[in-house]
Amino acid sequence: MNWLTDTFATSIGKKLMMAITGSCFCCFLLGHLAGNLTIYGGKDSFNAYAEHLHSLGLLINIAETGLLIFAAVHILTGLYLFYQNLKARPVRYIVNKRAGGRTIGSSTMPYTGFIILAFVIFHLNNFHFVDKTNTTISQIVSSAFSNPVYTAIYIIAMIVVAIHVSHGFWSAFQTIGANHVKYMPFIMMLSILFGLVIGIGFGFIPVYILLIA
Ligand code: HEM
Repeated sequence: MNWLTDTFATSIGKKLMMAITGSCFCCFLLGHLAGNLTIYGGKDSFNAYAEHLHSLGLLINIAETGLLIFAAVHILTGLYLFYQNLKARPVRYIVNKRAGGRTIGSSTMPYTGFIILAFVIFHLNNFHFVDKTNTTISQIVSSAFSNPVYTAIYIIAMIVVAIHVSHGFWSAFQTIGANHVKYMPFIMMLSILFGLVIGIGFGFIPVYILLIA
């Protein structure tokens, strides 16, 4: 077991931990998006999906606990790496050149991560920790998105999520060493595609509910 603790104590070990937990969140997001697409099938199909999820009982509790632990590891490790970076570079560069392949995504990871954390707390407060007696999940979601302010918050948050996950996706491949020059353009394209699927996939739902449904 010593090798495991030794590995995670190193900087690359911590990056690996970010990559593993981040990849799990990417899978969660794909699953969550697939489930949310039932919204387009009408309120009965969305309610049936939510009821099916809740009927999984213990399994869903285990998945939620896993998500929570992974979120804690991802956030705390991310904060630690951010702090280490700041410490290594106490004087900020005067000219912020995009050298060394820095992109908007890579240079804003801690900030977009922080915004996502705030969004998830807001999101769970709206949809998860609400009294669901005498109402349905479809009514809760529809009434939230019939408010243009909520719709705007969600659209902005989805742009932030898209930027964060597209860089995270690419970065995870770098961390595991899958950064061969031959495959890099493909991985880069896949990361952008993933960000677009997540951003547009989630971002269109509030627009659809506000304007069309
Ligand atoms: C338009 C976009 C989204 C919609 C309509 C939506 C909808 C929902 C709903 C209805 C629930 C509650 C399910 C229930 O308790 O029955 C939920 C839970 C959740 N959502 Fe979202 N969601 C969206 C985007 C996101 C995004 C982008 C994230 C992450 C960055 C996210 C993270 C979560 C988490 C962590 C839960 C709790 C999962 C659980 O405990 O079962 N959601 N979402």
